[in-house]
Amino acid sequence: MGFPEYRPRRMRINDVSRGLIRETHLAAEDFIYPFFVCPGEGVREEVPSMPGVFRTSIDMLEKEMHELYELGITKVMPFGIPSEKDEVGSGAYADDGIVQQAVRAVKAAVPGMYVICDVCLCEYTSHGHCGVLDETGYVKNDETLELLAKTAVSQVRAGADMVAPSDMMDGRVGAIRAALDEAGFPNTPILAYSVKYASGYYGPFRDAADSAPAFGDRRAYQMDPANAEEALREALLDIEEGADMLMVKPALAYLDVLRAVRDEFGYPTVAYNVSGEYAMVKAAAANGWIDERRVVLETLLSMKRAGACAILTYHAKDAARWLAEEC
Ligand code: PBG
Ligand code: ZN
Repeated sequence: MGFPEYRPRRMRINDVSRGLIRETHLAAEDFIYPFFVCPGEGVREEVPSMPGVFRTSIDMLEKEMHELYELGITKVMPFGIPSEKDEVGSGAYADDGIVQQAVRAVKAAVPGMYVICDVCLCEYTSHGHCGVLDETGYVKNDETLELLAKTAVSQVRAGADMVAPSDMMDGRVGAIRAALDEAGFPNTPILAYSVKYASGYYGPFRDAADSAPAFGDRRAYQMDPANAEEALREALLDIEEGADMLMVKPALAYLDVLRAVRDEFGYPTVAYNVSGEYAMVKAAAANGWIDERRVVLETLLSMKRAGACAILTYHAKDAARWLAEEC
């Protein structure tokens, strides 16, 4: 008796066929590189909680963009640190604002670089909230929409290829779509940060951009980490208002949400591998507690496996280098 001779299927998968059957692939073209621009000249200072990430002045961007492009990273997202902030975040929609200047500099240096601009006020408001506030400290939704729409239009006028509203106000995608259409940019796509959780993982970004709220928090307009179905409702609203792509942020603790959003709508969905996720890996790696290369590539691959069509990541340069070494 006994069992017939049986060879488990996996034994037939040799090294060659492993390549053929691999379900998920990671490449430099998957990455969107976020970077920080600041006023001044000749500035390139490392963000303390984000080793390997720098705040650079506009004049230093040319070299940086060439480096990225040579690594195969052809999509970037600039974040601005303005020299002055005010109650209404006017630096966000100034035609000579820091991000608008950065977009022009990037396009002048590398015309083929695809520039996606984050649309929000929090880096530009003196109180650090994502919108304008009323006397009681609440965000005034509709007044904020006008300013966000102005911000998006000014970014596109400066040369941005795509805009990505990250503020989470109600109706922002529709307001931005209408404003872009009216300004003569009906073909500029919107990547909506549809699913943005009120998360502890944004800490290092707020150091880098100096945008921590001066009081209160963002829970009134960002999502509760306990909710996944709400994510689908948020994404649906953005789609109805004209979003072309969706974003889930943060990524790592929300891969289930990413998968659900992708499955539900079949829209191109981007993962934001945020600053705190980056800082954790860098800190552990600096201590020799993990193998940075292995962990980074595994993490980014997991985001693609969960359904991401692209990944915003501060690891982009390292990952692109490692991927190039692999082939
Ligand atoms: C602006 C914005 C933030 C991030 C992206 N766009 C800050 C925030 O929401 O507090 C965070 C990205 C990161 O942590 O890397 N609203
Ligand atoms: Zn914001």
